[in-house]
Amino acid sequence: MKKLRLDKFLADLGLGTRKEVRKLIKQKRVSVNGEIVNNPSFHIDPESDAVFLDGKPLTYRKNHYFMLNKPHGYVTAKEDRNYPAVMELLSDLPYLKKLFPVGRLDIDTEGLLIITDDGQLGHRIAHPKWEIEKEYIAVVKGDPSGLNTDRFEKEGLKLKDYQTKPFKLEILETGKEESKVKITVKEGKYHIVKRIMEELGHPVIHLKRTRIGPVALDESLSPGEYRELTEEEVKSLKESVNL
Ligand code: URA
Repeated sequence: MKKLRLDKFLADLGLGTRKEVRKLIKQKRVSVNGEIVNNPSFHIDPESDAVFLDGKPLTYRKNHYFMLNKPHGYVTAKEDRNYPAVMELLSDLPYLKKLFPVGRLDIDTEGLLIITDDGQLGHRIAHPKWEIEKEYIAVVKGDPSGLNTDRFEKEGLKLKDYQTKPFKLEILETGKEESKVKITVKEGKYHIVKRIMEELGHPVIHLKRTRIGPVALDESLSPGEYRELTEEEVKSLKESVNL
């Protein structure tokens, strides 16, 4: 690979603006092949040189992709005045400044959130045009086994002020007091699952997102934990939105 300036390499990685990354270099936080480098115009080969920031290795990638198991009580935002924000859970990656959460989960919803700095992919996953499936497991009030679930797959459901797109509702467990359902929607409208279940007379007690398109939540992640998406997962996500 062609050599490039150290400050450009760091900025391309999303560590900050050119000005910000020069500061990191001046603060002697960056090393190349084991030696601290304090010259921003130092040239490196991203393929063969080992670059570290604060002792952590940096690999040259245009974009970064993570899955987070969002915990209850966190807002889907970079920061918030009143509540903890999901991006604080990735605070050991402070150098990836361009990361953002794709789509939105309510403060009391748990589960899969994709976090990336790939604007085009993020935009497409969230956009209804691409009809990416979002799958949720919901604990709901009462026993919904009397519902004719087939019709939702054809017609969707008319809410007070909105006609939903077709969706799939599967009943997983039933009880008199509460039941468990799986609901798969292809849109990201505000409170869509809660509004559907409310309309059907079975309000949501607990909600967790378990899949976005081809990517399922890694159940080994406890709430609050995240990991990088595998190459396979990134590839399948991109393919699902024609990228
Ligand atoms: N639908 C909801 O009602 N809430 C969410 O967080 C996601 C989908």
